[in-house]
Amino acid sequence: MKLPGLTDIHVHLREPGATHKEDFATGTAAALAGGVTTVLAMPNTQPPLVDRAAFERAKRVAEEKAYCDYGLYLGATLANAPAIQALAPQAAGLKLYLNATYGPLLLDDMSAWTTHLEHWPRSRPIVAHAEGKTVAALLFFAALYNRPVHICHVSRREEILLIKAAKEKGYPVTCEVTPHHLFLSTADIPALGAGRAEVRPRLASPEDVQALWKNLEVIDCFATDHAPHTLAEKDGENPPSGFPGLETALPLLLTAAHEGRLTVEDIVQRMHTNPRRIFGLPEQPETWVEVDVEDEYPVRASATHSKCRWTPFEGRRVRGRVARVVLRGREVYRAGRVLASPGFGKNIR
Ligand code: NCD
Ligand code: ZN
Ligand code: ZN
Ligand code: ZN
Repeated sequence: MKLPGLTDIHVHLREPGATHKEDFATGTAAALAGGVTTVLAMPNTQPPLVDRAAFERAKRVAEEKAYCDYGLYLGATLANAPAIQALAPQAAGLKLYLNATYGPLLLDDMSAWTTHLEHWPRSRPIVAHAEGKTVAALLFFAALYNRPVHICHVSRREEILLIKAAKEKGYPVTCEVTPHHLFLSTADIPALGAGRAEVRPRLASPEDVQALWKNLEVIDCFATDHAPHTLAEKDGENPPSGFPGLETALPLLLTAAHEGRLTVEDIVQRMHTNPRRIFGLPEQPETWVEVDVEDEYPVRASATHSKCRWTPFEGRRVRGRVARVVLRGREVYRAGRVLASPGFGKNIR
């Protein structure tokens, strides 16, 4: 089966600052192995991408190392709204962290939300880490400013129902759900272990998971929130939150398609068509992913390209394997090997 090149609008590639977890090369190699030809990388790096110097530096490294196409988000701080306006044309979008998560970025002062909504140009998306009540607050801002906002990693029944209601009212809102919030719940925490199960938003109840599946039509995008941390870190004293996801997303979703829980067209809409529309991404000519839909096998972290060397889906049987990826006319991945050279990936802005 042939699919278009997929876009993952939410990944953490950890460069600069935490390249022992991932870097632009390993992260974009993992993307190709997962059938993803465009990644949009989050700004909660060290230093975070919140000013021109950090942004330009990350851009230069990505240009040298990326195997697939990419865009870089800018991060919002309490004070940087006026300064980053000029960088907007070069950014994938602006990320607002409205609840605490991994990394230093947190916009806990609501007046800063206003400043960003007023300064950031409408031609570039605003995306937000929001959970529970901050989802409600942000939806109100979207309505008030009639300004499109995209809500990251929706995980709970109350959130998806609120977004559904907002869409019915015509509020300009879109959202994404991660595979781990569709395929894992609190019921999996004992088997995973507390440290490995750490993720924001937290794994939700089986009822929450059911509500996401029931409201598939409200979900605009599937995005992995690929958030690699090493096993030593996950099993250590202060386990950081986050799961890798780039290499398991498509096999998990294709397995669900095989089981009749959604269609392949549902996947393509949420990992190709809608992301490209919401983010205004250029088409990638002569680009496709070849999938062996019959291949059934257990997920193994040892077969992945991500640096982090673990997955919360270890041992899970999936059906559907990425066999080959062609990006802009070049064979870039085949039979488990990345064939592109570093720097083949282009900045989509
Ligand atoms: C992410 C990370 O590790 O950067 N962690 C996570 O638990 N999802 C941050 C985030 O996306 O909130
Ligand atoms: Zn987040
Ligand atoms: Zn994230
Ligand atoms: Zn297309």
